[in-house]
Amino acid sequence: MSTFDLIEPEIEAYCEAHTTEESDLLRRLYRETHLQTINPRMASGQLQGQFLLLVSKMIRPRRILEIGTFTGYSAICLAEGLTDDGILHTVEVNEEYEERIRRYFSESADGGKMMLHIGDAKEIVPTLSEEWDLVFIDAEKTDYQDYYEMVFPQVRKNGFILIDNTLWNSKVVHEVRHNDHDTQAVMAFNDRVQRDPRVRNLLLPFRDGLMMIEKL
Ligand SMILES: C[S@@+](CC[C@H](N)C(=O)[O-])C[C@H]1O[C@@H](n2cnc3c(N)ncnc32)[C@H](O)[C@@H]1O
Repeated sequence: MSTFDLIEPEIEAYCEAHTTEESDLLRRLYRETHLQTINPRMASGQLQGQFLLLVSKMIRPRRILEIGTFTGYSAICLAEGLTDDGILHTVEVNEEYEERIRRYFSESADGGKMMLHIGDAKEIVPTLSEEWDLVFIDAEKTDYQDYYEMVFPQVRKNGFILIDNTLWNSKVVHEVRHNDHDTQAVMAFNDRVQRDPRVRNLLLPFRDGLMMIEKL
């Protein structure tokens, strides 16, 4: 389960007990992620996974972009909300994850709608000529502003961008060490979005902080 500390463990357990259970596929993926990867807490897990799934179902996107696939948990959740002709593009820089991602995508009912790109999102995303209804940014914190500016022109009017880890283990509200570049980058990103007249935004104190943005 999630190891972020924003809510008491009892509350988190209660929420999990009152949230739709993961599919068997997601449960197996989450377990394998924990057994076989070095930083398994990067995977969304049940609460965030169901949140992303519901958001996607509410929007019914035709085109979703995800930056940072990891083992594919969030991608599988987001794809559930796609329209019948919808496609999710997800980009992962670490090729070590490729075999596992493809294996789980192929087992998903939405596997045919999911396109995995292995490589650096900063190189791959500009080659995708799509108009995004929903973007989920969940990769390198120091690149958050670059990803945001890169995808923004391709997000449709009234489309949505979600950015994970925007409270960064609550470090954004504590004194920041001069060499803590991740926290500095997350704080600069949050300030950038707050000042951006092109958007409506909500920093949701959910899990590790989720910035929700509508392009106006
Ligand atoms: C927090 S994990 C993603 C978790 C996944 N979205 C989920 O919720 O299950 C971040 C991932 O971003 C990948 N990543 C980092 N920089 C990247 C880049 N420039 N392009 C694509 N992927 C990147 C990392 O290799 C890592 O697997």
